[in-house]
Amino acid sequence: TGHFTFDPGFASTASTKSAITYIDGDQGVLLYRGYPIEQLAANSSFLEVAYLLLNGELPNAADFDKFEHDVSHHTMMHESLKNFFQGFHHDAHPMAMLAASIASLSAFYHDDLNVDDPVDRKMAAIRLIAKMPTIAAACYRYSIGWPLRYPRNNLEYVDRFLHMMFEVPSEPLQMSPVAAKALDLLFILHADHEQNASTSTVRLVGSTGANPYASIAAGITALWGPAHGGANEAVLKQLEEIGTPDNVESAILRAKDKNDSFRLMGFGHRVYKNFDPRAKIIREMCHKVLAELGVKDPLLDVALKLEEAALKDDYFVERKLYPNVDFYSGLIYKALGIPTEMFTVMFAIARTAGWIAHWIEQHETPGSRIGRPRQIYTGADVRDYVSVDKR
Ligand code: CMC
Repeated sequence: TGHFTFDPGFASTASTKSAITYIDGDQGVLLYRGYPIEQLAANSSFLEVAYLLLNGELPNAADFDKFEHDVSHHTMMHESLKNFFQGFHHDAHPMAMLAASIASLSAFYHDDLNVDDPVDRKMAAIRLIAKMPTIAAACYRYSIGWPLRYPRNNLEYVDRFLHMMFEVPSEPLQMSPVAAKALDLLFILHADHEQNASTSTVRLVGSTGANPYASIAAGITALWGPAHGGANEAVLKQLEEIGTPDNVESAILRAKDKNDSFRLMGFGHRVYKNFDPRAKIIREMCHKVLAELGVKDPLLDVALKLEEAALKDDYFVERKLYPNVDFYSGLIYKALGIPTEMFTVMFAIARTAGWIAHWIEQHETPGSRIGRPRQIYTGADVRDYVSVDKR
């Protein structure tokens, strides 16, 4: 029964029109508001990209100053939110803490929020972009038992975050400018990716009229899975398991074995069937960061060997499986001293810009309807209830 188009995983269904991000998966093209990702990566900053995603145009100097001012004046986390952290077990995964904390923002900022008011929507966007790094750093510090840090609003976005993560009292934080640059680049590259699973989730929740904090919290939980944003954490764990370049061959064999659920993490993409343009940029940055920070990570050798072996293996070539955005990002995070469990949190900080831009676009679009997919029913025909003594 049912006469609906069957499209598992929505591989060929456009759920919405959108003017934010363009992807050509065959050509390896990614544009934010028309600007090639390579140009933004080379010239822009995450905060400027966030403005672009939200507003559709690059800001002039005055617009950018105002945006930066607004963001840096909403970085504080409500003091009561700290009490939430006390309730988490010390080894809670930071993604669990992040999802719960962001959902809880609705409890602080919901009452006077009207999702139909453009001013309220912009305010929610600013709050989310501003508070995300503060809450993310709090998740990390709580998990290692350190006191939480207040945001230093005189610093730039990425520097502020690094300070909240790593600063200890009475010791100035020694952080190489390369670290901030690399993190900013990763944030730019992760900022949006059209209707991926987490953004579609944000839109589906948003379509019910739910408030933006609830919508973004749903996006965070969708991002967590290893097939999506959780891949960056999974890549690093997999590289550690493989351990040395000598073991790469057997990992490739396992990945090809259809009786084994093992997949090469950081490989393959639903849309990119030629190469992932973000992976190209990240690969270069990875070499640069490791060289400039003087980090000799043996896992880089494993990653390079894995990439080389996969790219000339028929299995991966036929299925058009290439390294994706998450393959090299973890090695950069690791070199910056960010622990593996935090990798997906880093992705979430960046993607918040895209999520909230989509949420706003959805509310700006006249005639938006609640998302309500149908199904092909495969269950039992109609039948009569049988009392328990007759079963
Ligand atoms: N290792 C081994 N085989 C793979 C892999 C992989 N990483 N990815 C896909 N395949 C095979 C898959 O078994 C299937 O083979 P066959 O046709 O013989 O059954 C074929 O390639 C097509 O795979 P699919 O699962 O139908 O493709 P999909 O578009 O549904 O999934 C994907 C895309 C990204 C979920 C998948 O490639 C994957 O699981 N990759 C590993 C996880 C990962 O790196 N995810 C991050 C994606 S990029 C960033 C983000 O979205 O957050």
